[in-house]
Amino acid sequence: MSSAKLRIIVTDNEKDFHQRAASLVVETLQPLDNPLVTLPTGMTPVGMYRVLVAEYRDLPLWQNLRFVGLDEYVGLPPGDPRLFYLWVARECLDPLSVPLENRMRFASDAPDIDAEAQRMNQWLLAHGPLDLAVVGIGGNGHIAFNEPGTPYESGVHALTLTPESIRSNARYWGREDHVPRRGITLGLSNLAAARHTIVLASGAGKSEILARALTGPVTVDVPASYLQTISNVTILADKAAAEHII
Ligand code: PGA
Repeated sequence: MSSAKLRIIVTDNEKDFHQRAASLVVETLQPLDNPLVTLPTGMTPVGMYRVLVAEYRDLPLWQNLRFVGLDEYVGLPPGDPRLFYLWVARECLDPLSVPLENRMRFASDAPDIDAEAQRMNQWLLAHGPLDLAVVGIGGNGHIAFNEPGTPYESGVHALTLTPESIRSNARYWGREDHVPRRGITLGLSNLAAARHTIVLASGAGKSEILARALTGPVTVDVPASYLQTISNVTILADKAAAEHII
């Protein structure tokens, strides 16, 4: 499946997947002056970050990159190792020397999280839209922390994580009770406004939900189905994840 709106790239092996992800990001950003980008945490993008750092670290573009957080847990102090921001900083922003003043991060410990969501929304209205959104897809169809049922017109908002997302995130912290219950996320309207979107999907566990998102009905039950409604989407999938869409 391929159209002007949606392009699907299937890679042969893990190495290709990471290489292709990194080159897609660089190709998209390089022509732009001060690109605004959001980047995901999770297992899927880690290899892409390694390639960006190993092979593209010296590109001048990182000096002008503007980063905005994709999603974050709520209620964690600034140095907590579970913070998504610290993950992306460690894997990517720090080694690529993206200037600190170009990084817009969620204040996980904001006393009023709805006001924090408003602040980020206002910032995006003033400085957006995103030039590039790189996202993963959750087993339940979530994109960032936009869980099933999230309205398409949602802006930045705080939410309670679904049990499925808590279980899935427990992979990183060993135990479910180490996973915070609340999150804050860019909304589907913020993501849909992105000029380019790259979706990373690897492993058989993503094949069914990827097919539902791309070929099933456009429904809030599958938040990732918003991808069918926007332009300039590239799906990068390995063979296992692409099983039901090629
Ligand atoms: P994963 O997470 O890359 O660790 O599979 C993706 C997601 O849940 O958004």
